[in-house]
Amino acid sequence: MESIVVAEGLHKSFGDVRALRGLDLNVRRGTVCGVLGPNGAGKTTAVRVLATLAAPDAGHASVAGHDVVREAAEVRARIGLAGQYAAVDEKLTGRGNLRMFGRLSHLPRREAHRRADELLDRFGLADAADRRVAGYSGGMRRRLDLIASLVRRPEVLFLDEPTTGLDPRSRGEIWQAVRELVADGTTVLLTTQYLDEADRLADDVAVVDHGRVIATGTPDELKATVGDRLDVVVEDPADLPRAAAVLTGLAGAEPAVSGGDRVSVALPGGLRLAGVVRELDRAGVAAADVRLRRPTLDEVFLRLTGRTEPVA
Ligand SMILES: Nc1ncnc2c1ncn2[C@@H]1O[C@H](COP(=O)(O)OP(=O)(O)OP(=O)(O)O)[C@@H](O)[C@H]1O
Ligand SMILES: [Mg+2]
Repeated sequence: MESIVVAEGLHKSFGDVRALRGLDLNVRRGTVCGVLGPNGAGKTTAVRVLATLAAPDAGHASVAGHDVVREAAEVRARIGLAGQYAAVDEKLTGRGNLRMFGRLSHLPRREAHRRADELLDRFGLADAADRRVAGYSGGMRRRLDLIASLVRRPEVLFLDEPTTGLDPRSRGEIWQAVRELVADGTTVLLTTQYLDEADRLADDVAVVDHGRVIATGTPDELKATVGDRLDVVVEDPADLPRAAAVLTGLAGAEPAVSGGDRVSVALPGGLRLAGVVRELDRAGVAAADVRLRRPTLDEVFLRLTGRTEPVA
């Protein structure tokens, strides 16, 4: 499939801070690419470079075949950008904001009005269209910000942490809007710190840490690189530390992680469930359940970045 966004070896520093250190990226047309990384990983900087708002110190990038530095105007004509912070005007109504964005994008007045109405309908803001944005919920603002970036029908939409700080319901609304856009053929590059967001929305995920991509693949491929996990659910939470000690002993390389009523460990090669049950028995741990499962993206992320705490 054709690549619509390509980045090769991007570098960008701010004084001593090396925000991008050789970032490569490849987004296939018509897909959602999730750029996943913790605070300060370089996600916003990468989006700003791709959206022509910042020039790279080294490396190249193109959008729809146009170089982001040499052909910035060509790139701008094809992209939309919604940022980490909503850019809509609180004093205007939702409809007023969209009409203003239309006029700023040089749409004729009538077309700007028509497009505003169409987007408000399409993305479920018609009922609130004539209220001032000051009275909108956080989720509604973010949704308005997202649809404002659609006024010019971009080929590629950049969404920088579109759901950070939103409640679960508002996140669901943004996800739905993204899915509808993609069904229309828009390519979406979204950054996120939420693993479940990447898991649900992204066709491909690029995991970014310290300014470079440390892994890429579909969510399933990334999970497969980590291998299966073994979960033990204990009958008595007081047994948790002993269960963790047993599993850590069996697994060797990586200590078991415990929480709630269960202990989880990377499945050591060659280990049989029967052997695990026997060792737990020997340690006097009553197990309610012992089972194999695929890793979560959280676990993939922690393994890849070497961090010990979940980011989200
Ligand atoms: N304009 C700037 N001036 C100085 N330092 C900057 C600037 N922009 C980014 N940085 C630094 O570059 C690094 C990467 O920042 P960036 O905003 O790209 O990270 P991020 O992945 O978007 O993080 P977050 O999840 O917090 O939004 C950070 O150390 C940040 O402090
Ligand atoms: Mg950011």
